[in-house]
Amino acid sequence: MPGASNKTLIDIRAVTKSYFSGSVETPVLFGVDLQVERGDFIAVMGQSGSGKSTLMNILGCLDQATGGDYLLDGADTLTLSRAQLAGIRNRTIGFVFQSFNLIKRMSVAENVALPLIYAGVPRGRALAKAQTELERVGLAGFGKRTPNQLSGGQQQRVAIARALVGDPPLILADEPTGNLDTHTSDEIMRGLQVLNKERGITIVLVTHEPDIAAWSRRLVRLKDGRVLYDGPAGEGLRQLAASHEHLAHVPDHGSSP
Ligand SMILES: Nc1ncnc2c1ncn2[C@@H]1O[C@H](COP(=O)(O)OP(=O)(O)O)[C@@H](O)[C@H]1O
Ligand SMILES: [Mg+2]
Repeated sequence: MPGASNKTLIDIRAVTKSYFSGSVETPVLFGVDLQVERGDFIAVMGQSGSGKSTLMNILGCLDQATGGDYLLDGADTLTLSRAQLAGIRNRTIGFVFQSFNLIKRMSVAENVALPLIYAGVPRGRALAKAQTELERVGLAGFGKRTPNQLSGGQQQRVAIARALVGDPPLILADEPTGNLDTHTSDEIMRGLQVLNKERGITIVLVTHEPDIAAWSRRLVRLKDGRVLYDGPAGEGLRQLAASHEHLAHVPDHGSSP
């Protein structure tokens, strides 16, 4: 039943995706299956062009599959109206992007409050909830600043606060540390790990860095639009390292079961 706290948040079966340019079809996903349960922490890896962003856009209901099935929190996304789809997306998913996507002319607090304001929550209440989320990401005193007065890592924490302001169970993040240095990336990943462990937030993130994927519990590797590996992150990263011998060292941040 939609919205009834289903254990399985994402259930895609045999999903295919082609892009069409006139009569020219470019197939990108060739039958992807993925089930994501509440509490999962998944890294999606794969070479550039393997279909990671295409898959994330489908998971986030930002784009539609060409074929196959997609249940989001129990709701059959293919049969929903646009408005219904937007509703379930807003309730269920918070998005985090590589480039933060903050609005420069707005304050940090307004940026975080924006999803609630769009959803019709009164401004005062939205800003109060934004302040709570900023505190949770360690930016309590930063609400009145503008995004360009913050470091990259701080901006990404603002984006995470914005993703969580509507209390969605799921975060989808496409290369969230792609614009950050190693130290800052680790801080962001540590923050996501805390969200996963302490608040039970389900996380699906795309990365091309084994060091980032090592923070996750489960690894999904895509190759040419197909799932090459889906299992424990540690084992998957060992297989990856074996296939690319230059990647000798795989760190363990202790989130594997
Ligand atoms: N809007 C689009 N129109 C046509 N082709 C696209 C579009 N978006 C992505 N592609 C193609 O689909 C393939 C997968 O892209 P993408 O999902 O962005 O891969 P990744 O995120 O793994 O790098 C690539 O060959 C890319 O050129
Ligand atoms: Mg991509």
